[in-house]
Amino acid sequence: MNAVVVRATPESVPQLVASATGLFAEDGGRRDPYLDVAWPRREGAAYFADLVRRDDSLCLLAFSAAGSAIGHLIGRIRRPDPLRPDAVVGVLESLRVDPAHRETGVATALTEEFFAWARKSGANQASVTAYATNESAIGFYRGRGFAPFELTLHAPI
Ligand SMILES: CC(C)(COP(=O)(O)OP(=O)(O)OC[C@H]1O[C@@H](n2cnc3c(N)ncnc32)[C@H](O)[C@@H]1OP(=O)(O)O)[C@@H](O)C(=O)NCCC(=O)NCCS
Repeated sequence: MNAVVVRATPESVPQLVASATGLFAEDGGRRDPYLDVAWPRREGAAYFADLVRRDDSLCLLAFSAAGSAIGHLIGRIRRPDPLRPDAVVGVLESLRVDPAHRETGVATALTEEFFAWARKSGANQASVTAYATNESAIGFYRGRGFAPFELTLHAPI
């Protein structure tokens, strides 16, 4: 892999917004007719500006050797759940790699950084949600130790 992974700063919020915009368009935008694909452009700057400052969140960017942002990962520690008092869950909220840089280990490097951060933050479980039709993402996550746990089913009504 010829990329470096760094913590995003307030100055790099526009790069997070751009990568999240690409993710919404490619993933949810093609799989969920109700997804608001304009959300990152409209709300992303404020959302990520808050996240990069929080201790319970992880905002990572991957940069190519040429210095351009080629991927991102957002992680969070879920609020305590009284129904699962002993679980501390690190949530992998968002992950994307630029198409031109896929299959070179960039997402693997981002995810390893996420696992290390989640462990350091006290998490004893990691969780991620993917669209059921996103086979490459599900294949990627399975290869990194995730296995299906719950299943959400939708019906049009
Ligand atoms: C999923 C994604 C983040 C992977 O990024 P990447 O940088 O190409 O991933 P890496 O190069 O680190 O690793 C690729 C791994 O995924 C595996 N993979 C890719 N497509 C797969 C598929 N259809 N089925 C099974 N495994 C697959 C590869 O075999 C490889 O695994 P290996 O290293 O064990 O051989 C990238 O494809 C992406 O950004 N997709 C669009 C956005 C998206 O779907 N994000 C996830 C939303 S939940």
